Amino acid sequence: MKLEWEYAYWQAVLHGLTKPKVPVIEYIPEKRRLPERVLQVGSAWKGIESILSDLIEKFEVKTDRCLEFGVDYGYSTVALSSFFDNVVGVDTFVGDKHMGSIRDIYADTRDRLSTFKNIELKRNDYRDWILNDQSTYDLIHVDIIHTYSDTYTCGRWSAHRSKCVIFHDTQSFPAVKAAVTAIARETGKSFHEFKESNGLGILV
Ligand SMILES: C[S@@+](CC[C@H](N)C(=O)[O-])C[C@H]1O[C@@H](n2cnc3c(N)ncnc32)[C@H](O)[C@@H]1O
Repeated sequence: MKLEWEYAYWQAVLHGLTKPKVPVIEYIPEKRRLPERVLQVGSAWKGIESILSDLIEKFEVKTDRCLEFGVDYGYSTVALSSFFDNVVGVDTFVGDKHMGSIRDIYADTRDRLSTFKNIELKRNDYRDWILNDQSTYDLIHVDIIHTYSDTYTCGRWSAHRSKCVIFHDTQSFPAVKAAVTAIARETGKSFHEFKESNGLGILV
């Protein structure tokens, strides 16, 4: 578990003490099945690909449009592309402070994913993307830098534009879980959590 000093996170923790508790419903998949497409690259997301079909069925998610914030090598993007007609993946492709190394992987990722015609990669900072995109999606995946403020900002925008938003690393980063809790409280959506694979928060 990675806990670091971030003013906004501790402020949210204190604020939460005075508010009604947000119930976190444990998500236990009824079935697990590997999707059609699984990329052979490293990812902390491994394991989640096998619950996607269960999640889509359980929460009755339509499968036309999916948006992902945080592509990296493309593991989750490709898994999602097994289910959705169109997947847009937004990433700066230079990593962040939680990933250890700062490197430019845009060209490699674009080439690796080029055979998947329903994936569109956009080299953008999520902060610029959310200023310009007015559309709605069937599912949005948030897996960017794992600070409270970035997860909250990106996640709150996403919660207003999609019936279902999933957040990776709710178990490994308390700041991510706190951001999902705050968004659930504000929007009245319910917070489900799959505890394996570093944790997946599901807001519906
Ligand atoms: C944990 S990785 C994503 C992992 C990926 N979902 C997978 O399946 O393995 C986080 C990604 O978020 C991207 N990122 C970090 N901050 C960002 C920002 N402000 N805007 C867009 N992308 C960002 C990084 O470049 C990195 O590729």
